[in-house]
Parts: sequence; structure tokens; C-alpha cells
Amino acid sequence: MLPEKKQILVVDDETNLRRVLSAQLVRDGYDVHEAGDGADAISLLKEHHIDLVITDLKMPHVDGMELLRNALRDDPNRPVIMLTAYATIENAVEALKTGAFDFITKPFDQNEVRQIVKKALRTRDLANADATRDTTGAPAKDSKTRYGIIGESPAILDVFTHIERVADKPSTVLITGESGTGKELVARALHENSSRRDRPFIKVNCAAIPKDLMESELFGHEKGAFTSAVSSKPGRFELASGGTLFLDEIGEIPNEMQVKLLRVLQESEFERVGGIKTIQVDVRLIAATNRDLKREIAANAFREDLFYRLNVVPIVLPALRERRTDIPPLVHYFIQKFNARLTKNVEGATPEAMERLTQYGWPGNIRELENVIERAVLFADGNRIRLEDLAVELRDGPASVDAGRGTPTPPAVTEGGAASPSDGLKEQVKAAMSRLERDLILRALLQTQHNVTHAARLLKISRKGLQLKMKELNLRERDQD
Ligand SMILES: Nc1ncnc2c1ncn2[C@@H]1O[C@H](COP(=O)(O)OP(=O)(O)OP(=O)(O)O)[C@@H](O)[C@H]1O
Ligand SMILES: [Mg+2]
Repeated sequence: MLPEKKQILVVDDETNLRRVLSAQLVRDGYDVHEAGDGADAISLLKEHHIDLVITDLKMPHVDGMELLRNALRDDPNRPVIMLTAYATIENAVEALKTGAFDFITKPFDQNEVRQIVKKALRTRDLANADATRDTTGAPAKDSKTRYGIIGESPAILDVFTHIERVADKPSTVLITGESGTGKELVARALHENSSRRDRPFIKVNCAAIPKDLMESELFGHEKGAFTSAVSSKPGRFELASGGTLFLDEIGEIPNEMQVKLLRVLQESEFERVGGIKTIQVDVRLIAATNRDLKREIAANAFREDLFYRLNVVPIVLPALRERRTDIPPLVHYFIQKFNARLTKNVEGATPEAMERLTQYGWPGNIRELENVIERAVLFADGNRIRLEDLAVELRDGPASVDAGRGTPTPPAVTEGGAASPSDGLKEQVKAAMSRLERDLILRALLQTQHNVTHAARLLKISRKGLQLKMKELNLRERDQD
């Protein structure tokens, strides 16, 4: 049997445009319904099972915005694509914030329409699959999940809007935010939502490349350019050709490299180390940093001209403590993730545990939350995460690090014990050691399905020794079942 055709509703008061668009969609294999105004469209939505709506924004009586709200009310996963004249682009942005999937400017390009429709229907299928998979009653269906980024706070919705608006533009994007806020996730989402998605996404961690190798890493080298250059090699810019180059931890690049990068940004060309040929590449650049570059500029550690070149489109990821409404959906998301990975069947958290999770300061942001939930899922005995399944710093820490008002106070307690920079070297090393120790033990337990004897063998310590360590580090032994 042939798969059922997808049903698309096309709404525009300009008859010609509507006809052209509908004819094309029919040729592409969809069933198309047409309406000349918003009111007719709303009746059609009631009568038919519509998978996707394409609507003009400006129409007499019931306009596109109203239709959008109406279409989403019945089915939040139904994509609505707005058609808009260039002059109304501001309204289109408003529509995106309200939940429109995308917008197309008139006069439209047939291929653009085709691609957006395809992408929208694919996203809808994925969202529907997710919703049916969710058997826990967790709010996965309602939470705004896009590109694997979970969140429904106004702050994260704003990030979604940015991603949609700029993904397919060539402009350089600078993503800033504390460690663990999801900068890399956003960089990948930008790539995946651009027409470059079938070309490479190349990531360079600027903090991890030794200073004297950086130029050759980025721009490549010719044979004999330096002692170890036994053959010529393309750099990351060339490897990313046609795709996206993600420069992570851009705040760490040395000054000489900043000058070279500036030239590439200005002129889109460079030479390999030891090379004479000028190379031109078509690369979309995304940079990220957890440093405050404005402060680095003031301290002469970062070039202002480079900053402005990178910061064409800034995306700022707020710290988790500044968007606490995202915590419950994130907790549910990570529970599902680790249920699958650890073959557990945890369904949620007790109210006390959830309260503590939402009040904690999260200095390590979402990465820290992810670790805490992994551990809690591993140790949970029943079907809910309890207060005692949470890491010790959450259980015993101050109820709330900041009340979400004014400037955030730095958390009093951090992951794995006290390790704030104001502590002395000894304390910091001790905290880091116990973090590492706990991490290794946790991994051994994961590997051995929580069999303490096997884990002890793996770690080359006695079973008794491991039990003592676990107690010390607040890792609970799982009851025998
Ligand atoms: N909104 C989110 N929804 C789901 N997972 C998230 C979200 N944000 C971050 N994560 C997860 O948290 C972890 C950290 O995210 P990511 O590596 O993107 O952070 P980062 O800002 O690049 O951190 P760093 O500055 O330390 O490199 C990853 O495992 C990522 O998948
Ligand atoms: Mg990162």
C-alpha cells in the first residue's frame, strides 16, 4: 500500500500566488487544500487532518498570526510556515517567537519552499515519534524540544528563534555562555539547519592545540615547511570547505593567530604554512567561548577588531540558574536518556528531589545536571529519584544558592566538594582528586552493572577498600535484588 499523502493547507488572499504554490506542492506529491482567508482556513483545519500549514501573514479579517495560534492550539507539533513580504519581516520574527516553523519571503523561490516543507514535515515526524515513545507522562510532549536542545524558558525560546533565523545565513556567529550551557549543541544545530548540513562540520578546540601548531592546524602546511612536515597537509579551513568551521574556546587563541584569523575573515583567503599559493574557501564560521571577551579586550588579551568580525550574530546562552523553568524538562529528558543507557526504568523524581534540583546553583550548568541525573538514575532503587539519590552537594548544600534575583551569587558548593578559586591550591587539588576518584569508581560500576566485586577487580583494589571509598564518596551500594 502506498503511504498516505501528507496534507498541506495553503492560505493566501492572492489567488495567483496560492495557485502557483499549490500546483507545485501537488507535483511534489502532497494533497493540497486551499483557503483565501484565515477564517476559511480555520474551518478547513477543523474538517481535515492537516499536517502542515503555509500561510500569508497579512490577510483581511483573520490574519496569519491568528491562524498560526489557532493551528498550534489544536496541534503544537504542526508546522506553520509564514509567507511574508520583505516589509513585514518584523512581524515574521514575531510569528517565529509564537511558534511558526519558518518564514518564506515573497517573491519566493520554489526550491526554498520545497526544502522548508520537507524539513518541516521531517521535524513533525520526529516530534510525533518522540511523543509516542514517551510513556512516562513526563512533559516531553509539551516541552519545546528542537535539535536535541531541551528547554521552554523564554531565554531558550529566544535561542531557538536565533538558530532558525541565522542558520542558513553566511554570517559569523559568536556563541557565549558559561561552561556546560550547550554552546556546542547550538553550533551543531546551526549547521544542521543550514543548507551546508551535507557538508562537513569541523570542530577545532583552540584550547587544546599547542600554540606553535595552531597555524598549521588551521591553515595546513606544505611539505618541508617545518622539520616534522614530511608531507603537505590541508588545514581545518580547507577540510571544512563548503561546510561549517566551529572554533571552540576562541578566547584561548594566541595573539599572532588572532591577526591571521582576522585576515581570513576579512578576505576569505589564506596560505598554508610554507606555501605560496593563496587558497580561497567557502566556510561558515561559528566561534564559541566561555570567556568574557569584552573584558579580555580591555585587558589587551583579545583583539577588538577580531571580536567585531566574529560577533556579527551574537548568541548568548544563559546559565542554568537563570532559567530554572528549564530544569524539570531537562531532568525528565536525562532520565529517559540514562534509562535507555543503563537499562533502568526510572519514571521521575520525588517532589523533594525535584525541588532541590530546581533550587541548586548549577555552576557546571547542564553538563553538571546531566552527570547528577546519570548518577541518580544509576543509584535509584524505586521508580523515582529521591533526595538521597542526588550527589551529596545537592542533598546537603544550601537550599538555594540565589533566589534568581539580582546578580547571581557564586555557588557555595561545587561538584565534588569545595573547589572555588578562592580556596587554596591544596583544597582545590583535594577536591579535584575526589572528583576524579568518584568518576573512575562510577565508571567501573557502570561497566560491571554495579557489581562491586567486579568493579573492585577492575580498579585493582579490594572489595572492602572499594566499599569504604564508596561510603566516603557518598556512593550508595545497590541492594541485592
Ligand atoms: N538545552 C539542552 N538540552 C539538552 N542537553 C543539553 C542542553 N544544553 C546542553 N546539553 C548537554 O550538556 C552537555 C554540555 O553541553 P555543551 O558541550 O554543548 O556545552 P558547552 O557550552 O560547549 O560547554 P563548555 O564551555 O564546557 O565546552 C552536553 O552533553 C549537551 O548535550
Ligand atoms: Mg563546548
